Order: sequence, then structure tokens, then C-alpha cells
Amino acid sequence: MLIRLSAGEGLSLQCQLFEQLRGLILDGTLKCGERLPASRVLSEMLHISRNTVTLAYARLVDEGYVEMRESVGTFVSAQIPDASLLTKVNSRTSARTAGGEERPQLAPHTVRAQTLLNPHRRRLIADFWVGRPDARSFPTKMWIKLIHNRLLSAGAALTEYKDPAGFGELRQAIVDHLRPARGIKATAEQVIIVGGCQDGLNLVGRMLMPPTTTAVLEDPCYQGAAFLFESLGARIHPIAVDAKGMITARLPDQRRCIAYVTPSHQYPLGVTLSLDRRLELIRWAAATDSYILEDDYDSDFRFNGPPIAALKGLDGLDRVIYLGTFSKCLGAGLRLGHALLPRGLVELARATKTLMNNGQPWLEQAVLADFMRSGAYQRHLRKIRQLYLSRRNALIKALERHFGAVEILGGEAGMHVVWRLPDHLPCATELEAIALAAGVGVYAVGSGGAVVLGTGSNNDRHLVLGFSSLTEREIEAGITRLAAALRGEARSLAVAAEAVG
Ligand SMILES: Cc1ncc(COP(=O)(O)O)c(C=O)c1O
Repeated sequence: MLIRLSAGEGLSLQCQLFEQLRGLILDGTLKCGERLPASRVLSEMLHISRNTVTLAYARLVDEGYVEMRESVGTFVSAQIPDASLLTKVNSRTSARTAGGEERPQLAPHTVRAQTLLNPHRRRLIADFWVGRPDARSFPTKMWIKLIHNRLLSAGAALTEYKDPAGFGELRQAIVDHLRPARGIKATAEQVIIVGGCQDGLNLVGRMLMPPTTTAVLEDPCYQGAAFLFESLGARIHPIAVDAKGMITARLPDQRRCIAYVTPSHQYPLGVTLSLDRRLELIRWAAATDSYILEDDYDSDFRFNGPPIAALKGLDGLDRVIYLGTFSKCLGAGLRLGHALLPRGLVELARATKTLMNNGQPWLEQAVLADFMRSGAYQRHLRKIRQLYLSRRNALIKALERHFGAVEILGGEAGMHVVWRLPDHLPCATELEAIALAAGVGVYAVGSGGAVVLGTGSNNDRHLVLGFSSLTEREIEAGITRLAAALRGEARSLAVAAEAVG
């Protein structure tokens, strides 16, 4: 078998083995139905403990790559789960026309889709997946009433095209909200209603990112942004994130870049971009004729410390495109968000949005406008802010009860925290696998909705835990189960070491 493990790799042997076996399955070297060596045989071949092989096999089973048939053996699954998510098209390949000359392929770039949910969530007793609002808190009764009222007076609103930039009353309500809440002064004309941040990213990609544009990204970065820019053929320029956010001293000396940032609550590490770096970023954008894309995805939830105004609020030079979403404060199923543009880009954005889809659905926009203008939105925000604060506290308390003092990043805001793992615990990828086997979803930095681009250090010592969709009881049960699984793991490693010794 083509497996090479190395002790000094930074990744545990078990993770290396899991990843290499998964790679061999995905690239077809190991075929569907093929039998894997028995764990004892493989452990002898690779000179590693049998327990390491058993745990790697267990994770492959959990994730659906292999099947265990009792008393028979371990086989590559008949259906491989995520092979279809990764469609790599070689950018150098080209097709020949009838005349024999070469022409570029239609889809020359890598297209990867972000992971939206843990595929194993149904088997979990607690899933700490990041950024999911509490479904029980959605204002359903009020929504039904508002939909009903709007439908009764819809007239031609449902049968005719509307302004592709969005419903006027909603654009005004958003501007009225952003001024006090985020320190942004703007007019409704600068707002384009989009289908969530993802649609806003696409809008900007179409407007301002011809292939080979340099996309400056935080490392680690939100998959939805990184994968989109990659699919557009952008040149990715990753910059590591430290305790003050993206290290702006490493911004490239290049013109016309797009810098994507999450300054209020870095995704996924949770840190806040410091004021000096915010100013440096804006100065750099002005000097290089670049634009900054500010993704303010979960800024409605700030629990302690002074409210941090948006980067856009500091943008006297008009270099920031601000993206907001209702996916976090209401629900991702609404598919509503907003892009706030520098004045010079408004007409281009309106025309581009028209080409993309002629605008968002009218009914949802009208209902959301009514919800915001009635004062119910502010009440809803106050209520869920309190709810999420209690859940965040319950999570930190549960971690402390089971693991002693814990170092938490990004706890002052948002819907997730990052736990910097103490040295005596396994690395995050290993911990994630152990937790999954015990029915708990916790996430290494690169396994949830984020991607690690390789410039940062120590990412595998960070564990990401979303808390907003779990009750305090579910949080407690999940962390208790995680602690028990880790104790069990430590015991079985001790037994294996004894057996080997
Ligand atoms: C960094 C970041 N931006 C934006 C979003 C929301 O995207 P959308 O508005 O497209 O639902 C998420 C959701 O997880 C996110 O993590």
C-alpha cells in the first residue's frame, strides 16, 4: 500500500493514516468493494500500534468511506460520500476543435462547494456546528401574520418585475438599523438586497474580479468566500490571523486586489481586527486601488466589551463593500442579506444584480421590511442575544467543569467560541474523530465551514464550538460525553501501550 507516515509531521499518525486512506479511496486507487488489510496486518506493515489503525478505520467507517463486515473484514464502501463535492478540472487541459487548434476548456478552474452542515448530524446527541440559529426562536406567528397581510394587498407585486436592487422599504429599514447598530452612515440607494452573503460575494466577484485578480484572504478563511474566489480563477493571497486579526503588514504590494475580511468576529478564530490594522487596511486599499469586502455575518451578537463599529463606518475613502446577512439573526432559509456599496459602484452593482437574477423574491423582502419597521426586529435581537449569551456561558462552564481552566478565543461575540486546546489533549482533528465516534460534533478549524490555507501556525490546537442552536442541557450533555470519550481514549491508549511493551 502507498502509505507513508512520519512521526514529526505535526499531525497524529492516526490522522495521517485516515487522510491517506481517504485520498487513496477518493482518487480511485482503492476501488469500491476492495478489501483493506486487517488492522493487525497493517499495523505490522507500518510499524504502528494496532489501536492507531483501528481508530483510523473507525473514522473511515463513520464518514462512510469504508464498511466493516463482522467476521469478514473492512471494505471500501460501494458509495463514496463526498467525491462529488470536489470537481477538479486541470486548468492546463484544453480541447481540440475540428480544425485541430487548441481552445481553452469552458470550466478551467477548481470548483469546490462549502460544507453547510455536518453530514453525520442525525447520529449526534449534540452537534456544536458553527453559526446555526435556534430554530425554536424564529418568530413564526408574527411571520404568518405579516405574510398574510402582505398577500392580501399584493396587487401586481407578485406578477411583475420589481427593482432588482431590492424592495425600497427594506433597503431603508436596513440603513436605519445600520446607523446606530454598526456606526455606518449610508443611504438606501447604496443598498442592494442579495440572497445572503453568498449572493453578495458572487455579485462582487462578477463586478470586480476578472480571472487572475488577487484575492487577499484571512487564513483560516470562510469556505464560502475562499472557494468562490478560487472558482473565479482568482490568485489567492492568504494572510495569517493572530490575536489582532489579519496581519496587515503582509498585505501585497499589488494593485486592484479584493481583500475579504471578517473584522468584527474573524471566521473561524473569533478575534476582532484591531483599530490600527483596520486603518492600515483602508489606507492600503486606497493606495493600491483595491476594494475591501467586509463580511459582518454575526455582528448582532456582541456580549461584552464596547460595541465595535463596522470597518465600513471608518471608510472615509469609500473602499469598503459591506455585506450583511439575515442568516444568523433570523435564519439561513430566508436567503436574504444586503450589500452596501461605495457610491461609485452602485450603478454597476444594480446592473450586475439584474443580469444575475432580476432581484430577490418580493414577498420575503416585504415581510422582513414590516418586521424591521414595526420594532419587532429589535425585540427579537434583544431576546436571542440574551439566549445565546446564556448558552455561551453554559458552554464555557461545562468545559471548565470537565477540563479545568480553559482558554477561549472569540467569546465576546458571535455564535461560536474557539477553545485553544491544552497540551495534554490530542490535536483538534483527532479530538473531532474521537467525539464523532461518541456521538458529539466538535470541529477542527479546517473541518467545519472554514478552510486552512497554510500560512498560520497552530491551527490544529484550536477547536471550534458553535453553541447557538443547542439548549443548555444539550450543551452540558455534549461536553460530558466528550470528556468521557477522551477519558476512554486515554485508557485504551494506555492498554495498547502496555500490550506493545
Ligand atoms: C463568515 C460567514 N459569512 C457569511 C455566512 C452566511 O452566509 P449566507 O448569508 O450566504 O447564508 C456565514 C455562515 O456560516 C459565515 O460563516
